[in-house]
Amino acid sequence: MHNLDAIVAEAKALFASIADPDALEQAKARFLGKSGQITERLKGLAKLAQEEKKSAGAAINRAKALVEAALTERREAIREAELAARLAEEALDVTLPGRGEAQGGLHPVTRTLERIESLFRSIGFTVADGPEIETDFYNFTALNTPEDHPARSMHDTFYLLDEQGQVAENVLLRTHTSPIQARFMKAHVERYRHLDVLPEIRIIAPGRVYRVDSDATHSPMFHQVEGLWVGEDVSFADLKGVIADFLKCFFESDDLEVRFRPSFFPFTEPSAEIDVAFMSGTLKGRWLEIAGCGMVHPNVLTHAGIDPERYTGFAFGFGPDRLTMLRYGVNDLRLFFEGDLRFLRQFV
Ligand code: FA5
Ligand code: MG
Repeated sequence: MHNLDAIVAEAKALFASIADPDALEQAKARFLGKSGQITERLKGLAKLAQEEKKSAGAAINRAKALVEAALTERREAIREAELAARLAEEALDVTLPGRGEAQGGLHPVTRTLERIESLFRSIGFTVADGPEIETDFYNFTALNTPEDHPARSMHDTFYLLDEQGQVAENVLLRTHTSPIQARFMKAHVERYRHLDVLPEIRIIAPGRVYRVDSDATHSPMFHQVEGLWVGEDVSFADLKGVIADFLKCFFESDDLEVRFRPSFFPFTEPSAEIDVAFMSGTLKGRWLEIAGCGMVHPNVLTHAGIDPERYTGFAFGFGPDRLTMLRYGVNDLRLFFEGDLRFLRQFV
């Protein structure tokens, strides 16, 4: 029966050399298949004499069982190896520290805008808004700006292209939030046309504005907060009072110098610019212009259908980006709009 031992040994050696499950099933056929070596032996039994059959049959069956056992063992081993490989590949190191939730935060300019809104709401202002894509009419004409004013030039204003790719003379990115003044006054007059007295207007209007401009204190996209108070007997003294109170509350600081510098805007008369400087800190002694303001020009009131003999008003336009620079001691405005997380995280 040496022959059968050789077959079993051959089967074991062959199975052991195979790592692929399909190849293993094919190798099985060489021993146990229709014309496999063990199967042929079993067929050969028929030719043997009766008394030999019994012992030869038992020997063949024993060999068959050994081959089958070797096969099963190898199948198991292959399956285990595959499982081990997959576990190794998908391994989780449960001892690693977690990544944690990314913490979002409000942009410093957003914080300033919210702060301005809540301070003005507390003295009876409501919040209005208007479109960023504006017409030449509301951005300039309704605000008493002459046809040849330099602000209208393409060096200062972003115009939009029409369908033919030509500069559309009438459509632009608003250069300030002042067009909201004109829009709001007009709508207000229409709404209260039936009344004898025009109800007071007291609004602020925050938003993005655009200019062809870029340096440490100028960005091509920046923010403004417009303010407008129109009624009977509204004076320049009211303007100064409102602004002074606002700045005191906004900066929570007595360390602050404010000056009203006479200036010119076509839509206000008289006009001023408001400059602020801190007496200590990183921006010590540096004057920064934070707003334009003035008494609403009679032509602007007339344009909106308001009688300038009866009603007066003041308006202002703050640069909240600059207010944010002053509040947090930031010396370059462009940092706000570069999206650098190392900078922005400091405000979270
Ligand atoms: C105006 O835009 C006027 N509409 C303001 C106004 C409103 C006057 C109502 C009178 C009545 P000015 O161009 O100065 O004015 O801009 C107002 C403020 O916006 C400036 O004081 C400054 O704080 C800010 N500002 C202007 N240009 C930029 C810029 N490129 N980047 C950042 N802030 C700017
Ligand atoms: Mg100015």
